[in-house]
Amino acid sequence: MEELGVEQISKEARLLGACHEGNSQLVKDLLARDADIFVTDDTGRTALHFAAASGDVKTIKMVLEAGIPWNSLDDGNFTAGDYAEIGGHLEAYNELVQAGVRAELILRLLNRGSNDSEEKRAANEEYLSQPVVYSGDSLIDAEKNGVMMSWEAPLMELHAKTICTSPGKTVLNIGFGMGIIDSALQQLNPGKHVIVEAHPDVFQHMKNEGWDRKPSVHIVFGRWQDKIDEIRALGPYDGIFFDTFGEFYQDLDDFHKAIFVASDDGSVGPVLSQPDGIYSFFNGMGGDHRLFNDVYCDIVRADLMNLGIETEYSAVASDIAMDEETWKGIKRPYWMIKNYHLPTCKWIKK
Ligand SMILES: C[S@@+](CC[C@H](N)C(=O)[O-])C[C@H]1O[C@@H](n2cnc3c(N)ncnc32)[C@H](O)[C@@H]1O
Repeated sequence: MEELGVEQISKEARLLGACHEGNSQLVKDLLARDADIFVTDDTGRTALHFAAASGDVKTIKMVLEAGIPWNSLDDGNFTAGDYAEIGGHLEAYNELVQAGVRAELILRLLNRGSNDSEEKRAANEEYLSQPVVYSGDSLIDAEKNGVMMSWEAPLMELHAKTICTSPGKTVLNIGFGMGIIDSALQQLNPGKHVIVEAHPDVFQHMKNEGWDRKPSVHIVFGRWQDKIDEIRALGPYDGIFFDTFGEFYQDLDDFHKAIFVASDDGSVGPVLSQPDGIYSFFNGMGGDHRLFNDVYCDIVRADLMNLGIETEYSAVASDIAMDEETWKGIKRPYWMIKNYHLPTCKWIKK
């Protein structure tokens, strides 16, 4: 076979090669000569995947500026972050996380004023109007999505210990699911234990299991969004945990605004007690890719900081969920990351 001369190799193939070498000058030259940045190789890898594999931050920035989205996936479902991670390129990985945070914040500004929240409420209400089934190790909705699964039990136990640090505390949990965190909280002997649950089948299950007869437990049946006054009246809380289903980041953010902000005239304090209250949430956003989850970790931390809350993440091994067996019969694995970042959120000390 005849070997191709340099001039005969396409500009695009040379562009991917230059990205792979981390040769930002050559990338710049080829882009100036109209090489198509959106080219991929035969496994769907973009210029960003190649630049990430090189670890060269300058090349990564150049490719991002030229228009390759930070969250591109190749045919194997890998992000550019996976390539940076495999190569051990920490600085490059962090550059991708920051690119993701910037892009998400811009998107948020662009979406301001859209009637997104109505659509999101409708999605949650749709889930709440369909039956759910308890089936062995999981709670499944009508579309075979895993609403809750028992592989999360060790994480829930840690979340319970995080928000309930000694007996007698007043704790709030949003979303009963399989009751794993609530059972763990009960073991810690809270003085008052408020559970908010919106799904009628889950509520019925709670009653069948006798949760409405436990002395320290108060069940609030309904969407947390519609029950804030009741939740507030039963508080303030030493510990709060949030883990719903069929909701979006905006709902989590709205929940934070509802629990960390006092009334305008200051007559009613925040739902989380001050100064020592502890808050945590199921940190599953973007849970199918480490890069996406890390971007959310940064976004939540920054949003909470604006509300006077500091967030610390502790890494907990969660690779059990990566076993294919775990997801048998479930529509979509919602967790595929080796480490779970368990958030502990506290008031910033003045
Ligand atoms: C992931 S499960 C919670 C699992 C729980 N952490 C455990 O340990 O088993 C989510 C629960 O939140 C409930 N839920 C969904 N949307 C809600 C809302 N807006 N308000 C209150 N509960 C909600 C669901 O019905 C479901 O029972």
